[in-house]
Amino acid sequence: MARFGFIIHPLSARQITKLYPALKLLPDRMIEAILAKQGPRLASEVTGIKSKTGVETTGVLVGCSATPKMFARMPVEKSYEMILDAVNMAVDNGAEIVGLGAFTSVVGDAGVTIAERSPVPITTGNSYTVATAIQGTLEACDILELDKSKATIAVVGSTGSIGRTCAQVLSPEFAKAILIGRDIERTTESAAGIPNAVPSIDVKQIIEADVVVSVTSSETSVIQPEDIKLGAIICDVARPRDVSRRVAEKRPDVLVIEGGVVKVPGTPDFGIDFGFPKGTAYACMSETFMLALEDRAESFTLGKTVSKEQVEEMLSLAEKHGFELEGFRAFEKAVTEETIERVKAARLVPSSA
Ligand SMILES: NC(=O)c1ccc[n+]([C@@H]2O[C@H](COP(=O)([O-])OP(=O)(O)OC[C@H]3O[C@@H](n4cnc5c(N)ncnc54)[C@H](OP(=O)(O)O)[C@@H]3O)[C@@H](O)[C@H]2O)c1
Repeated sequence: MARFGFIIHPLSARQITKLYPALKLLPDRMIEAILAKQGPRLASEVTGIKSKTGVETTGVLVGCSATPKMFARMPVEKSYEMILDAVNMAVDNGAEIVGLGAFTSVVGDAGVTIAERSPVPITTGNSYTVATAIQGTLEACDILELDKSKATIAVVGSTGSIGRTCAQVLSPEFAKAILIGRDIERTTESAAGIPNAVPSIDVKQIIEADVVVSVTSSETSVIQPEDIKLGAIICDVARPRDVSRRVAEKRPDVLVIEGGVVKVPGTPDFGIDFGFPKGTAYACMSETFMLALEDRAESFTLGKTVSKEQVEEMLSLAEKHGFELEGFRAFEKAVTEETIERVKAARLVPSSA
């Protein structure tokens, strides 16, 4: 089987202080200045991934020392340089295929340039991320007994690599779709060919939506408690999160689920804590693991487009190797039966109440 590498990075300067408490008193910009001087770091050796077919793979996680805020501010060439240093460190540690995590797959042309300059194939992991976002959203609708033929879905970040394909696949399942972006021309283009889709550049329009898939690359949260419809379901795929933490406190009537959390087969040990239950990982990582298990050292998902065929292929590989969607989680905790019942009850309240 192929050996893999996967590139990770801190989602905020504050996250770094969990690893290095001595930095706690420093302001974010000083932590970022320290990070900017660091090279890549071998974060962990990953062991114990075993497919239900019996094949196994191992690999490494390599840390790239930039937060989303830092990536957003630096010239794109500098981002490529940092990411390629991390890719090369993975290759030095035996990786034959490398996956790009979080913002390392968002910056620039989403992996295309990195793949051209890398000694091994690259994947962004976005095909399986789309697959699990769709699965999770539809499963949540079933559990809440939501009648999709009478409901409205909104996709926030619908012009993006993950958002556009989620919008194309999910919109036809619902009565109406509101596709939200920042630029009206590009948002209208992402809605083209979807008969029930309305483009919008106003995120506040999610107030009309029974179901929201949010997948922007914003550095800060874009969904606030005041903006959400009573009893809505929100699948938050973005890292850092799109849904403000205040939603957990102020909107007990809303079901927020984290998109893209996957149970990995075998007895995986990732060597670091993602804040998920043992044995679970991000969908984008899982795409890399599956390609390694298949011994397919090839650049699978690259660029800003994810095709329905790529999503279907990942779903069939997940089935073959025993990768499954983890139970619903929100804000680092499992979603309880009590939450489900509360949201169901809220959905029964007439909307004028
Ligand atoms: N859970 C997982 O396993 C997983 C895996 C991979 C990626 N992700 C996360 O998924 C997110 C999206 O990734 P992607 O590859 O689809 O990114 P992308 O192709 O760059 O698309 C990002 C989308 O967000 C919009 N956007 C950017 N900044 C915004 C802001 N400040 N306010 C509102 N909208 C904004 C963009 O609009 P414009 O078109 O106007 O720029 C675009 O629609 C990222 O947070 C990434 O870390 C999660």
